[in-house]
Amino acid sequence: MASFTERYHELTKYNPHTIDKLGPVHWDHQPPAFKAISSKVKIDLLSRLQSVMDHLEEGPQISDSPEAGLENIARLLFFTLGLTARLGDQGGGDYFLRAAPSAGGLYPTEMYVAAHNQSGLPDGLYHYHSLKSALIPVWQGSFWGDLNHYFLGHPAVEASGLIFIFTGLYGRSAWRYKERAYRRILLDTGHAVGNLLEACRYAGLDHSLMGGFLDAGLEELLFLTPKEEFPLLGVAVGKAGTIPILPGQHPGETPAEAIRHLTSGDPMQVQQNASERIRSDKTVRAPVAADCGGPAFAVPKDFNPLKTILSRRSCRKFNDGAVTLEQMKEMLAFTFRDSGAPWCLAPGRIAFHVVVLNVEGLEPGVYLLKTDSLDLEIKRPGDFKSETYTMCLGQDLAAECAFALVHSSDLAQLAEVYGDRGYRYACMDAGQVGERINLWAVHRGLGSSGVGGYYDDQANELLDLPLSHGILYITLVGVPEQE
Ligand SMILES: Cc1cc2nc3c(=O)[nH]c(=O)nc-3n(C[C@H](O)[C@H](O)[C@H](O)COP(=O)(O)O)c2cc1C
Repeated sequence: MASFTERYHELTKYNPHTIDKLGPVHWDHQPPAFKAISSKVKIDLLSRLQSVMDHLEEGPQISDSPEAGLENIARLLFFTLGLTARLGDQGGGDYFLRAAPSAGGLYPTEMYVAAHNQSGLPDGLYHYHSLKSALIPVWQGSFWGDLNHYFLGHPAVEASGLIFIFTGLYGRSAWRYKERAYRRILLDTGHAVGNLLEACRYAGLDHSLMGGFLDAGLEELLFLTPKEEFPLLGVAVGKAGTIPILPGQHPGETPAEAIRHLTSGDPMQVQQNASERIRSDKTVRAPVAADCGGPAFAVPKDFNPLKTILSRRSCRKFNDGAVTLEQMKEMLAFTFRDSGAPWCLAPGRIAFHVVVLNVEGLEPGVYLLKTDSLDLEIKRPGDFKSETYTMCLGQDLAAECAFALVHSSDLAQLAEVYGDRGYRYACMDAGQVGERINLWAVHRGLGSSGVGGYYDDQANELLDLPLSHGILYITLVGVPEQE
């Protein structure tokens, strides 16, 4: 029996013959972009950010002073998902862009902070309200033991007093993208995680990704509305040398077990979410040992991720210009670099192809990228501009870019190794890769954009990949048109 991962992916493919049947987008059905605040208490972060902004040029500036805890937390939150641009009233009030990109600008990813023994912040669980630039208490008091249990005794919980929890709000994306929303929520979340890890590294902080947890436990602890908002990842953060790392991520149930939890009639994400869950009444499977690997890359001193995140945008128009092979190689070296602690959740489970349209020094064609050596192996020489354009639903960006990085995964194998939970891991990893590309493009004056809308099977055809490989994401890179 095919895993639910394979079924979900198949059922949410875009296909030129059926895309019109998805129906119109009901703009008046769009849910609010921010969570309502029910608490009278809010902990202001804006004032804490002022000095961070004032000293942005001066390096990481993580302070050890006892009052600095909240400032450091404010910094990490802001540069992960804070509001970085206001576009004015777009018909439904002021519209904001954020530190991380998001499919359709819908921002379904939310962030929570679990704090224990942090200076300037009482022990508690808080929701990060990016519009208010504030922490809203969800629960105050002692709960670290519960957290430890829900994160399956992960040693980083015990060692750290600061855990960021990412969640996805299904409705915020599904009103527009229907069942395919879940894919985009995962990719969006991966982009945000990419920012958080860059900000941690820059500040010399350790991080540990915790993708394995008892879903129901965390949902309850965070007071999430079941089947509407779901936890996706915990990231434990602490001073250098203090945060232990497990050898890999916990798999979910085997596909044969997981498929039994599905109920008909549920929206797709709920089923996907159901099949991915780790349950307290089942034996938890041991983490899958794997290494994110990647060659070493000396990040240049002039790369300031905070400044880059602040000015980052997705490119809206490329000018058809060429990127040089050196620029492309440097970008890939930054993206797939070994950055100390593991940064991905399902190492080795994503295959990357580069569709070269206009790279100076490299013949156009489809290449397989080996991420451990960064070697490019030609699979199909030729000019595939029109195929790339059509594959990306006729978006001009895809015809005008210099190259497209296509992320794919053998879904049966992914589910075999990680259960259906592997789909989350791999899609969030793809998002992180997209964010690393985006940040490096901005740093080097190039442009990039994620593409979540593509005809899946056309991508397989272009890459000459069997349909057993699901296409998870596409990242375009090129020369931005000057405004
Ligand atoms: C998962 C994902 C999918 C996206 N898909 C597309 C796409 O298909 N076409 C496009 O033009 N932009 C796409 N984008 C870019 C978003 O439109 C962009 O992030 C959003 O408008 C916010 O702008 P910003 O990234 O400049 O902050 C995507 C972004 C993400 C993260």
